[in-house]
Amino acid sequence: MKTEFKLFILLGFVFFLLTSCKSDGNEKNISKYLSVRSHNMGMNCMDCHKEGGGGVGWFVAAGTVYDSLLVNTYPGATVKLYSGPNGTGTLIHTIEVDTKGNFHTTEAIDFGAGLYPVVVGNIGKKYMHGTISMGQCNSCHGVTTGRIWTK
Ligand code: HEC
Ligand code: HEC
Repeated sequence: MKTEFKLFILLGFVFFLLTSCKSDGNEKNISKYLSVRSHNMGMNCMDCHKEGGGGVGWFVAAGTVYDSLLVNTYPGATVKLYSGPNGTGTLIHTIEVDTKGNFHTTEAIDFGAGLYPVVVGNIGKKYMHGTISMGQCNSCHGVTTGRIWTK
């Protein structure tokens, strides 16, 4: 009886270890207006927020929005992904830009035949003319093309 009890405790401990160390893939991490938890503005978030990357949550779409001078970030904007160009078709997904100017989500997004990003600021909207089939916005923006910005 005593050994069985010990075994029971041991199994419970192993179970606790397994569940507490579960992979970040199950971790929800979605940006909200006014949130200050994010970091590494301008970097490709998915260098780390991916399977085996160490970041909390595996992002499906993420990036950073700047103001028109492209130096300071732009908090409180909104990123929308549409099925059609220039904000037409169906609104597939909406992501809030936090206080650091970053946006990120771990929610599944159906990129389908490609989605058109729109960034909505206080007085303006910026439309990406091409489509994206993945959400690593900062893998292009700030690298092979200009930073994402709005007014
Ligand atoms: C170099 C690797 C790396 C990059 C690049 C990176 N992150 Fe992270 N991120 C981490 C690590 C590691 C943690 C957990 C430890 C910590 O909070 O610093 C984390 C934590 C976070 C958290 C806090 C999660 C929580 O529950 O508190 C947010 C939000 C976040 N990252 C957003 C982003 C965004 C948005 C980007 C891109 C603009 C980004 N990260 C780029 C490694 C990275
Ligand atoms: C594969 C590379 C790539 C990815 C990924 C990408 N973009 Fe773009 N983006 C571009 C290029 C190139 C342009 C300029 C040509 C165009 O509008 O299609 C652009 C233009 C834009 C513009 C218009 C810029 C302006 O000055 O008017 C916005 C806004 C934008 N992208 C937002 C986003 C957002 C938000 C994401 C992620 C959800 C994203 N982009 C992902 C390459 C990319």
